Amino acid sequence: MTLQETLTDTERLAELDLDTLRRLVGLVAHDPDADPFPVTGWDAVVWTVGNALQTSHFLVSAFGMELVAYTGPETGNRDHVGYVLRSGAARFVITGGVDPASRLLDHHRRHGDGVVDVALEVPDVDRCIAHARASGATVLVEPHDVSDAHGTVRIAAIAAYGDTRHTLVQRTVDGRTYDGPYLPGYVARSSSYRRREGAPRRIFQALDHVVGNVELGRMDEWVDFYHRVMGFTDMAEFVGDDIATDYSALMSKVVANGNHRVKFPLNEPAIARKRSQIDEYLEFYDGPGVQHLALATNDILAAVDALRAEGVQFLDTPDSYYSDPGLRARIGEVRVPVAELAERGILVDRDEDGYLLQIFTKPIGDRPTVFFELIERHGSLGFGKGNFKALFEAIEREQERRGNLDGPRNLDGPRNLDAPGA
Ligand SMILES: [Fe+2]
Repeated sequence: MTLQETLTDTERLAELDLDTLRRLVGLVAHDPDADPFPVTGWDAVVWTVGNALQTSHFLVSAFGMELVAYTGPETGNRDHVGYVLRSGAARFVITGGVDPASRLLDHHRRHGDGVVDVALEVPDVDRCIAHARASGATVLVEPHDVSDAHGTVRIAAIAAYGDTRHTLVQRTVDGRTYDGPYLPGYVARSSSYRRREGAPRRIFQALDHVVGNVELGRMDEWVDFYHRVMGFTDMAEFVGDDIATDYSALMSKVVANGNHRVKFPLNEPAIARKRSQIDEYLEFYDGPGVQHLALATNDILAAVDALRAEGVQFLDTPDSYYSDPGLRARIGEVRVPVAELAERGILVDRDEDGYLLQIFTKPIGDRPTVFFELIERHGSLGFGKGNFKALFEAIEREQERRGNLDGPRNLDGPRNLDAPGA
């Protein structure tokens, strides 16, 4: 067995190194030859939104991402536009329908702004698809080559929870690595946006994990899917009381690929006195989907300051979280005084391997669905289990403000803006 621990091309381009990645996202050595479904890492998180132009601008101006490529009518794509954004090793593709008949518009009508595709880079698409098919996965797109002047990429796609998919992208075909800005059909594009003076060069360096919300009773089914179809293994498990507040509860399990670059926590609602945040998500996304994306940063304080200055809203952490005498005993020594964390509402958690700092934004679209987490790891490979209760109580306060904590939503409210006189 040959353990591999190598940088991807995107990581190299982003000037990241192995030590940084071990600390940032918990990268471990792995033998892809012994893996039935080897995954190199994330390829891209593909979103469909109501206004791709403006969402991409928001991610560039507020989240410090860089526009690197574009597809749209000007490049011969009459169906939709797509903006490719980078921050370190992380790549987002923001798409929106242009042709009124575009299927992206149907997706958006149902789900609102959200993630349609968590695309993964793999060394051998055909091998992955053969294993996925034999394991009972739904193959949405058969392996095929796409080419342009920059070379050839081999891609396929399998279905995941809800309308979410995993496109598998093989960027080296017959010994030649594709050297275009993203995929065939996309052209290089940059933005004239200029960072504010003093803003960090990058707010985040990589993607740490992508969380899926699934229906009550379906979590184990999807954990099994990632085990069976994609050869992922368990990382951690949080069940029942660990993440229950007085009112609501959820269950969560985490699976990861061999080198731990790709980590998928999966949540399902648990029976409780009131509706959980997962129930609210499932109602407003109209089904299972991506709940949050954790962005790995090496300076969460600077990141939060920069994001707040751009108007990004975070969940409030109550003062009691920091005044709790148990907190200091639980977290021990961290790199900054607790007062600095309290000022920004940053949460801390520690386990046997180290600690992590984390904070969560409010939902970034109009519906109470997808949001971001910022995470700064210092040895801990956890997901902030010790903070779940404080975090969920903060989310419940927001749910309460939206009128979504008690029972079903009020159907008599002003919902239909097409109504006469609306
Ligand atoms: Fe998370």
